[in-house]
Amino acid sequence: MRVIALQGSPRRDGHTALLLESFLSPLRATHAVKRVDVCYQHILPCRSCYACQNNSACVTDDDMAHIYPNLAFDDVVVVASPIYFYGVTAQLKAVIDRCQHFWTNPNQRETSRVGVLLLTAGAPDSTGIGVSTTTAAVRIFMACIGAPLTYVFAATHTDVVPARQQSEVLEAAAAAAQQLADAAKVL
Ligand SMILES: Cc1cc2nc3c(=O)[nH]c(=O)nc-3n(C[C@H](O)[C@H](O)[C@H](O)COP(=O)(O)O)c2cc1C
Repeated sequence: MRVIALQGSPRRDGHTALLLESFLSPLRATHAVKRVDVCYQHILPCRSCYACQNNSACVTDDDMAHIYPNLAFDDVVVVASPIYFYGVTAQLKAVIDRCQHFWTNPNQRETSRVGVLLLTAGAPDSTGIGVSTTTAAVRIFMACIGAPLTYVFAATHTDVVPARQQSEVLEAAAAAAQQLADAAKVL
């Protein structure tokens, strides 16, 4: 099984990375895992040139070229982000927008794969709005690339309770990954 994980925080070892690594650790031993810290890639925003309507590929030449094949064909697609103003980080949003290519060319990617969303947020999210708004946007993205959103885990209130202390969320994420790893073994 192949797993692509997009890590959206500029903090490589922050709360989001910690939650992501909890999810990835059961998979790393036996499956091909590629983690991309998107803030350290050269990825430009979509220019709305619509060249993808006529070409099968995006014409912008940057590090998306290394990510498109994984987003198109890997069995599991993981999006991990801190919530920034009720959405994902700008760097991750650039990656998402560049996947307009798959919207205009749906035959260019596999379907029926697994989408996973991992979020962290500084606030308690007592109203649920930050998690729900971000989840709604990412759900559309996952559907667009053919990896319907199947699992969502969120560590909120990280301003007060660091993600590393939120064992319930970390363990739930790891358990879901273990389930995926085990299911793939019997396929
Ligand atoms: C620019 C910016 C915007 C943020 N917006 C929100 C927000 O809307 N809601 C929230 O709960 N936390 C917000 N936060 C806090 C982060 O989501 C939180 O600290 C997160 O756990 C950081 O994860 P990281 O350590 O992986 O970067 C924001 C932080 C920054 C830097």
